Amino acid sequence: MDKIYFDYNSSTPIDKTVFKKMLPYLEANFANPSAIYSVAQKAKNAIEDARTLVSNLLGAKPKGIIFTSGGTEANNLAIKGFCFANRGKGNHIITSKIEHSSVLNVFSFLETKGFNVTYLDVDRHGIVNVDQLEGCIGNETILVSVMHVNNEIGTIQPVEKIKALCDKRKVCFHVDAVQSFGKVAFDASFADLITVSSHKIYGPKGAGALCVGNSINIEPLLHGGHQEEGLRPGTENVSSIVGFGEACRLRQQDMKTEEVKVRKLRDSLESGILKGIKGIKVNGHPEKKLYNTLNICIDGVEAQNLVINLDMRGFCASSGSACQAKTPEVSYVLRAMGMLQEDCAGALRLSLGKFNKESDIRALIRTLPEIVNNLRASGSHG
Ligand SMILES: Cc1ncc(COP(=O)(O)O)c(C=O)c1O
Repeated sequence: MDKIYFDYNSSTPIDKTVFKKMLPYLEANFANPSAIYSVAQKAKNAIEDARTLVSNLLGAKPKGIIFTSGGTEANNLAIKGFCFANRGKGNHIITSKIEHSSVLNVFSFLETKGFNVTYLDVDRHGIVNVDQLEGCIGNETILVSVMHVNNEIGTIQPVEKIKALCDKRKVCFHVDAVQSFGKVAFDASFADLITVSSHKIYGPKGAGALCVGNSINIEPLLHGGHQEEGLRPGTENVSSIVGFGEACRLRQQDMKTEEVKVRKLRDSLESGILKGIKGIKVNGHPEKKLYNTLNICIDGVEAQNLVINLDMRGFCASSGSACQAKTPEVSYVLRAMGMLQEDCAGALRLSLGKFNKESDIRALIRTLPEIVNNLRASGSHG
């Protein structure tokens, strides 16, 4: 890519080692893993190796890992699968107002099927209030779903505290860990159901997983063959699953060094932008925030214009989450944090990754003030 990329929370470039590992399963080892001849068994074994690699990074047992097409499907499987299997125990479910659309839209779908939903507030940094959650859990509550790290602002939720509360109240806890998996230290014991995705950690698109805890009962969304314990029937996406496994193996090696490097780059980007442009607010929690994410609101500009102008000058960035990119409305995440509509209009998300260099940071610090000045002068926010 000839652009300078600042949108790693949206998707990451595939690692060359991962790509090489996948190729044999698109070429010679293409056979259906359910067949019994030896090439097919090679594909089957490669899936099982990948399952072990994903489970190692999760700190879980391979048995509970169900491969899916990505984070969206894993969130659907977790939430609908659990609710439909456990409907007899109660019909109250809880989530937060700042979840990804692949959680929020599942909850609103379940409302149409007779479930009562509580949407938890967040504070001005985007953190869920555990005391409010405790007050909401009742006899009818069967599920709580709260994301680990928010994709727009990078805020890290107190998942350990929420898990302790859910255990005490005997409620299942699902965590959408798409943005934290492979980036921060991870312990599968912090939830009963955990969603992860491959393309956020230098793996291919088309693979993700749901980690299902020991005593958790879920129903499949699809019905068909025996694959993935019957919870995700259909011929497996072998090459993407293999790539996902390899991406997990690499994360285990690179995670710590990348954190140090990327945090330094993100921090110098933040201070450079704050120095070069007046009227900026940094969003999210000052400390409990993922090391790669910088979300800012810039006064007097409109986010879409910023992103288009950045693109014309050779930069990829986002005005919010990728799924929101075509919607001109302001971020519902920032609104839930109590920000006024007009204050969120110029929200820009810059998310960094392992291929960013110091020269990328210098280039953006140089270019962004020019773009902002031009947009402010032309009154483009109107
Ligand atoms: C927090 C979060 N959950 C879920 C998803 C959906 O994952 P996928 O793109 O693998 O479907 C995303 C993708 O941006 C995300 O950021």
